[in-house]
Amino acid sequence: MTGEQRQMSDSNRKTRSAEWFGKLGKDGFHHRSWMKNQGLPHHLFDGRPVIGICNTWSELTPCNAHFRAIAERVKRGVYEMGGFPLEFPVMSLGETLMRPSTMMFRNLVSMDVEESIRANPIDGVVLLVGCDKTTPALLMGAASCDLPTIALSGGPMLNGRFRGETIGSGTHVWKFDDMVRTGEMTLQDFMEAESCMSRSAGHCMTMGTASTMANMVEALGIGLPANAAIPAADSRRYALAHMAGRRAVEMVREDLKMSKILTRAAFENAIRVNGAIGGSTNAVIHLLALAGRIGVDLSLQDWDRLGRDVPCLVNLMPSGEYLMEDYYYAGGQPAVIREIGEFLHKDALTVNGETIWDNCKDAPCYNRDVIHALDAPFKPQGGIAVLGGNLVPQGGILKPSAATPELMKHRGRAVVFADIDDYKARIDDPDLDIDETCVMVMKNCGPKGYPGMPEVGNMPLPKKILKKGVRDMVRISDARMSGTAFGTVVLHVAPEAAAGGPLALVEDGDAIELDVEARRLHLDVSDQELAVRRAAWRPSHDTYARGWAQLYTEHVTQADTGCDLDFLVGASGAYVPRESH
Ligand code: FES
Repeated sequence: MTGEQRQMSDSNRKTRSAEWFGKLGKDGFHHRSWMKNQGLPHHLFDGRPVIGICNTWSELTPCNAHFRAIAERVKRGVYEMGGFPLEFPVMSLGETLMRPSTMMFRNLVSMDVEESIRANPIDGVVLLVGCDKTTPALLMGAASCDLPTIALSGGPMLNGRFRGETIGSGTHVWKFDDMVRTGEMTLQDFMEAESCMSRSAGHCMTMGTASTMANMVEALGIGLPANAAIPAADSRRYALAHMAGRRAVEMVREDLKMSKILTRAAFENAIRVNGAIGGSTNAVIHLLALAGRIGVDLSLQDWDRLGRDVPCLVNLMPSGEYLMEDYYYAGGQPAVIREIGEFLHKDALTVNGETIWDNCKDAPCYNRDVIHALDAPFKPQGGIAVLGGNLVPQGGILKPSAATPELMKHRGRAVVFADIDDYKARIDDPDLDIDETCVMVMKNCGPKGYPGMPEVGNMPLPKKILKKGVRDMVRISDARMSGTAFGTVVLHVAPEAAAGGPLALVEDGDAIELDVEARRLHLDVSDQELAVRRAAWRPSHDTYARGWAQLYTEHVTQADTGCDLDFLVGASGAYVPRESH
């Protein structure tokens, strides 16, 4: 063994990647030689930390279309700290294009991420996340490997502007669509608003699911401070990427694995931050699934219990009037953390090696209209209400800050749609027997039923009711709702109709009682009658004969446990016992 070979062997013993690149003989030759066809010099294989940059760039995922430039900044930081960056692609999930639902593919991407990390000579990971499902998918996959990992969000778009008005991703699509249907807006104006809404790189700039999950990354401590709010178009987003690359190398040297960050305390902090920011209901499902991967015991009830006392401080659409760009200028999440410190586990560790409180305790707020003070909140109730009752035996959720206070206690007559097609076919039928006191119920839009639990739970109201000036009604389904949407909407009903949950048994004319304060959703039909209906019930959803859809529908769990596949819950670590040759 030459001196150089011995030096390589000794220094490489410390890193996982040395099991590949530090080998002598033909195996080491295989691992290094083909990599060198990219112009990588020999010294990069000397045992320095290899940082995998997991990239969800795709032109079919417009929210992540700027990620190649972000990856380059991460590489600069990695090189600067003596690491070796290697970028790799995984399947991307474009919320606005994919059918039947990106949610159906979240777990598939998580498998792609997990297997890509484990199978390759990677010591630490930077996850490039942005559009809704890319964040949970990458976090879940990486958590099942448990290497030192930083999540880096791509940042929100700049504020939308249309004819002098600030408009928000998604939120104004719902509003404009209602206006077109009632004749208050022309189709030509509607189409002109398209380019005014999405006018820069980045993800939805309302407090929708992408912004919420970027906030969750920061609150969990798995992203750097300021991760959530810096706009994609702001040069400071690239500086953050550079710093993430630097820090990933240090984390490998410190052996700061995901499991040291993603503790029960971190999830409790994230749930409370979600309340304070008025975050998306989708965070519930994604954090439950992530907790399942990293081995933290988190339940749906934790969301209600931990978030109940936390007021909503952040005045962003869809609940409020501002957007993520304003949130950044006002101080971003650090300013929120400083306000709600009394609700948090201040000693929770974050990826920069400091506690969440040390990172944020002196954070300034520059605009109290955007980020309110704790003693003068934007809305008194910020969390997620988890409902029980005979219609939702395993739970259903409602976002109080997006709901109409007068509808939070309501009894109404059910108007039932068998599925999304039935809803679309009949919602604007002038003969539909419905008024604003009714409760709209939609079935077969859950994880198995659709399949993939799409964001259709905020069913637009019938045109004839919109024309009366009514903008909200109680709606119930086993679907999800876009984080950009709003209304008194009960979502994630579990078990779903397609799995034989009581939702499947609701019929037109049944009385339904919603009492959010009592956390109760009750179908006022006798047990005897429900037993008769159950005996006659047959599943009506399609069955899939092959491929991912079959695997998904056979193994997806219900919303109350995060909709992971049953065989993916948990972790396998990063060890692979066998060589490839
Ligand atoms: Fe990508 Fe909203 S469509 S974040």
